[in-house]
Amino acid sequence: MPALKKISNLVLPLPVTLTTCRAEKEDSSTDNIIPLSWVGIVEYRPHMVNINIGKEKYSANIIRERKEFGLCIATVDIMEQVDMCGYTHGNKVDKFEMAKLTKFAAGKIDVSLIKECPICLECVVKSSIVMTTHEVFFAEVINTHVDERFLDGSGEPDIEKMNILGYANGMYFSLGKKLQNLYYSKNN
Ligand SMILES: Cc1cc2nc3c(=O)[nH]c(=O)nc-3n(C[C@H](O)[C@H](O)[C@H](O)COP(=O)(O)O)c2cc1C
Repeated sequence: MPALKKISNLVLPLPVTLTTCRAEKEDSSTDNIIPLSWVGIVEYRPHMVNINIGKEKYSANIIRERKEFGLCIATVDIMEQVDMCGYTHGNKVDKFEMAKLTKFAAGKIDVSLIKECPICLECVVKSSIVMTTHEVFFAEVINTHVDERFLDGSGEPDIEKMNILGYANGMYFSLGKKLQNLYYSKNN
C-alpha cells in the first residue's frame, strides 16, 4: 500500500468547531471566532478537551492570555460562515458581524457563544504544550449549552438531527447518518 503524503488532515473524521474568545482592550473588549478541527476529548473526570492552534495566531495569543474559550460545534447549515471565519483574522475584522452569527453570553466565563451552534461548551485552560508550529491547550469544561431543538424525547442530544460539519484533507463533509448504538454487537 502506498504511504499517505501528509497525515495532518487524515485522521478521520474531524469535527469542525467554532472556538470563541474575547480580547480585552483598554476599556473595551472584542469577541473573536476561530474555526478549529484539531480538537479532542482528553479526560472524563473532570471533563477536559484540547484545542490545537497555530501558536502565532491571533486567537492563540488571546487564549494564552485569558485562559478561557467557548467551543461551539458547527453544523452544515453554517458551513459558509465557518469558511469565512477560517481565512479572516480577528485583529482585522469583527467575525461575528461579518458572518452574521448571533452571540449569546456564556454563563461562567467571559466570552460570547454562538446561537446557531447546537452545542456550546465553556472551557477554562488548565495547561498547554507548545509544539513546533502549534500550541495545544488543555481545558476543563465548566458549563454546557444544548439547543433544545436538538434534544430527543429523553433529553439526549439528537446528533443526527444536528447535521454536524466535518473536515478532512481540505474538504468539508456532513458527518452523516446514525448507524447503530455503541456496543450493539454484544446483543447479537
Ligand atoms: C474547517 C477549518 C478548520 C481549521 N482548523 C484549524 C485548527 O485546528 N488549528 C488552527 O490553528 N487553525 C485551524 N484553521 C484555520 C484558522 O481558523 C484560521 O487560521 C483563522 O483565520 C485564524 O483566525 P484568527 O486570526 O482570528 O485567530 C481551520 C480553518 C477551517 C476553515
